[in-house]
Parts: sequence; structure tokens; C-alpha cells
Amino acid sequence: MVNYCGNPVGTIAANNPADKYPVNYDQVFIRDFIPSALAFLLNGEGEIVKNFLLHTLQLQSWEKTVDCYSPGKGLMPASFKVRSVPLDGSNGEFEEVSDPDFGESAIGRVAPVDSGLWWIILLRAYGKITGDHGLQERVDIQTGIKLILNLCLAAGFDMFPSLLVTDGSCMIDRRMGIHGHPLEIQQLSLPPHSAFPFASPLPSFSVAYFSSDLLSFEEDRRTPPTKALVAQLRADLIEFINEYKDVFPERFEDMPGIDFSALFYAALRSSREMLTVDDGSRNLVQAINNRLSALSFHIREYYWVDMKKINEIYRYKTEEYSTDATNKFNIYPDQIPAWLVDWVPERGGYLIGNLQPAHMDFRFFTLGNLWSIVSSLATPRQNRGILNLIEAKWDDLVANMPLKICYPALEYKEWSIITGSDPKNTSWSYHNGGSWPTLLWQFTLACIKMGRPELAEKAVSLASKRLSVDQWPEYYDTQNGRFIGKQSRLYQTWTVAGFLTSKMLLENPELASLLVWEEDPELLENCVCALAKSGRIQCSRHAARSQILV
Ligand code: GLC
Repeated sequence: MVNYCGNPVGTIAANNPADKYPVNYDQVFIRDFIPSALAFLLNGEGEIVKNFLLHTLQLQSWEKTVDCYSPGKGLMPASFKVRSVPLDGSNGEFEEVSDPDFGESAIGRVAPVDSGLWWIILLRAYGKITGDHGLQERVDIQTGIKLILNLCLAAGFDMFPSLLVTDGSCMIDRRMGIHGHPLEIQQLSLPPHSAFPFASPLPSFSVAYFSSDLLSFEEDRRTPPTKALVAQLRADLIEFINEYKDVFPERFEDMPGIDFSALFYAALRSSREMLTVDDGSRNLVQAINNRLSALSFHIREYYWVDMKKINEIYRYKTEEYSTDATNKFNIYPDQIPAWLVDWVPERGGYLIGNLQPAHMDFRFFTLGNLWSIVSSLATPRQNRGILNLIEAKWDDLVANMPLKICYPALEYKEWSIITGSDPKNTSWSYHNGGSWPTLLWQFTLACIKMGRPELAEKAVSLASKRLSVDQWPEYYDTQNGRFIGKQSRLYQTWTVAGFLTSKMLLENPELASLLVWEEDPELLENCVCALAKSGRIQCSRHAARSQILV
């Protein structure tokens, strides 16, 4: 635990007393703290999470320069370290200072693009689990969110709605060929939406929200409900369910009666939050909504692969010049790697790692695919397909230790060119196909959301056989994840915290459901309407279903 001015503000990345050269593993990393924060929250210890959120917010506005160049305002650091320094002019007295690292000391000088996104996600989780929404409403916190989003939404030369980043600007923080528009970053940009309201498809829902069944609802603090309003809300909801029941058949069939799903809950809660939108944030909220719709369309449509899609790519025509080309990015069928042809299962599929003109990175990246499930970036059917693929490819993606960070590893010449001959990222090691137990909590969350906790239990039980005996390694190596990683730290905090959080989530699935996002029909509709403006698609919910719900 790291304290600043007497308050706990985070946990260090690794704590192995035998390690004489901890490099920067004695610092608090924003991304590493997320599973620790969830473990604290699930254990009823919200204060440290609040301290962390406020402390890192202060670091956000730090003056920063790298070789005379100042990175964008709003950037959150990768990590920070608290040091004691002698007080000027005092004899023997010390003061504590907190030094953030925005990438200026990091190996490869990479900007931590994911830090701000994780910060927003954690802020939401804090509110959901503690019930303390006052923190989110504070002016300084609102400004922090806006600064992060302004940075992410700034217009550039991009033609795609995905976020353009440099290699290594996330959990994989060294060159691994994930520059451009990598999936790992795209899914993290979705959740900010939940921090902001959007227009409810049901007008009356903006004034009240339901609890777990249709017969009871809690009143909105600002608008006392009337009998007529209650009746209207119910009528709206029934109409809404009827309209969507063939869009999400599995969801409604599974539901006892017309029980409430988190889909509605999230939509209603967000609509309720809408009442606090002011003139200063209206444009930003609009920009977020537009971007969310475009991004989910882009990823669902162009990043998804399964048997059928790969066969389609295999038969692609190339050099198509027109707005309605099928092969929009001019992908040559020869790009389909040999391993994929035999690997892709009959059932299921996944989102590829990256898409750029004439280039599809077909590697499977676990964090991106899991967060696409958790945040509903992918369609409900795609989400089920991703878990089906993990199940079918268990021996490749889990084997002896959950879970591979990506699959397959880069080898030989490809390894040399893409990683820059990085000896830490040799095949099936570290970021290049190594196994990272911290991914377990995100897998657990995705499995619980999709009603497949037994898959997560299997993975947790596998991990429990090795982790404590092996002293909680940072990562494992080899194609089957059998060895503790070559340069793996021991007593790695996010390994311990990820394992604890997974167990707590499995024991409290109702808390897990507060941490996920369900499909948002409003976003689908926006997207179809935008396409309709180009005269190609009719604007309706039915169109949304056929166009976007693959
Ligand atoms: C490594 C990992 C990074 C992590 C850091 C601290 O650099 O790649 O994701 O945040 O270690 O554990």
C-alpha cells in the first residue's frame, strides 16, 4: 500500500522483498491498480479508491514535457511514485512528493493512452458499488473527465472513428505491432458513455427508473411520480420490450416474465442522469454519442471474423474504386495467415487485433475481446461467439494458466521486424503470447455477464493450483503457459488482486452486473440514421437490427 500525506492512495505494482532492482515496479500504475481497486470496493473499502481517483486527478494537470514537447492536456500518467524529500531550509524535516510518469521515463517513451480511460471506468465502478455519486458530480472530477475526453475526441486526419495511437500505449507497453487503431484501446473508449447520459428511447424514462421488476420503481428525487406517470412508464416499457424481443430473442426468452435486464437498467439510469447535463457539456455529450455509434458500427462490421467472414475475405476482389466497395480497406486475400485457416472454429469468432488500409492484424488479443463483451462494444451474438471461441480454443488460450495475452506469438523474421528483436518479447513470452493471470478478473466479468460463470470457475480453479505456490508471478511463458516467465516479477499485485476480484465476483454476481454495460439501442439507432443520411440505408430500428446486429 502506498500512502501520501497519511492517506492510502494506491498499491505498488510488485512487492518482492528479494528483488533488489525493482525498476519502476515499486510505483503505483493506474492500470495495475484497477483490480486492486475492485477488490477494495467489493470488500467495502471505498475510501482508498476515492483517494486514488482524487490523487491521480491532481497529477493529470501536471506540467509535462518530453524533449521540449508537451503532450496533450488531460493525459493521465502511467504510474506515480511517492518520495520523501528534505524540506527546504529545515533541519531533518521531510515532505512527501508524488512524481508521475507520463511516459517520459518509460522504456520506449510510450504515452499511456489507456490510463485516462481506466480512470473513468474506475470512477463509474466506484459510484456503482459504493453508491457515492457525489464524487462524480464534483466540478474538478467533471473537468477531469472532460479533459480526457477532449483529448480522445480531438479531430485529426483520421478517417476512422477508432482511436489512433502509437505502439505500446496500453497494457502491452513495448513494440508489438499494435499501433494504429488497436482493439485493446477501442473497447476502453466505450465506457465513458456511461458517465454521460444519452437520450432515452422512452421519453418518460428520463424522469424515473425501475428497480428489478415492473411492478415497483423508485422515484426520481426531482420529479415525484404520479399514477399516470407510472402507467405511462409501464406502457412504454412493454412497447419497448415488444419491439426489441426479436432483436435479443435469447435475452427475453431467458427472462422470467418481463424481468428487468441490465440493458434497461443502464439505459434508465443514464437517462436519469441526463437531467444534470448543462450548456457547458451538451456539445461534448453529443460528440460522445456520435462517436460511440460510429465506433460500435465500425468494430462490429470490420473487426469481426468467423468462418463465414474469413471465407468472404478469402474470395475478396481487390482494387475496388467506389463508395460501395465490398472490400473497403483493399485487403488482399493473401493476408489471411496460414494458422488462421485451421484455427478458426466452426462456432464462434472474435474481433481482430487491428485494422488499417490493406492490413488486418488477425491476432487474437484477449483484453480487447473481453472488454468488447463487458462494454457491449460487440453485438450480443458476437459476445457469445467470443466466449464460444475461447471455450473451443481453451488449450491455446488458457492451457495451464489463464490467459494468453494474445494468440499466436510472432516468430522468426516477423518477431524481429515487428518487436525490433526485443529479447523480452520472444515467442510465447511476456507480451508476445505469454500468459497473464491478471486477465482472469476481466474474463470472469465477461463470463458472468454472458451467463457462463462455469467457464470462469474452471479458469479460477486452474489458476488457484499454481499462483500461490509460484509466488504470484506477473506472467507465464511457453505455448502452454507452463513456466514462470523468464523475467517475471514475483508477488505482482495485479496477479493477486485479479485472482481475489475474480473469486469475489463469482461469489457476488449481482455486484458484477453493476460493472458491465448492456446493449444500447439508442446507439444502434443513431448509427443507422447516420448511414441513412448517405442515402444507403433506411432509418428504423428494424434497419438497426439488420445492419448492425450481426
Ligand atoms: C509492464 C506491463 C504493464 C504494467 C507494468 C507494471 O510494463 O507491460 O502493462 O502496467 O509492467 O506492472
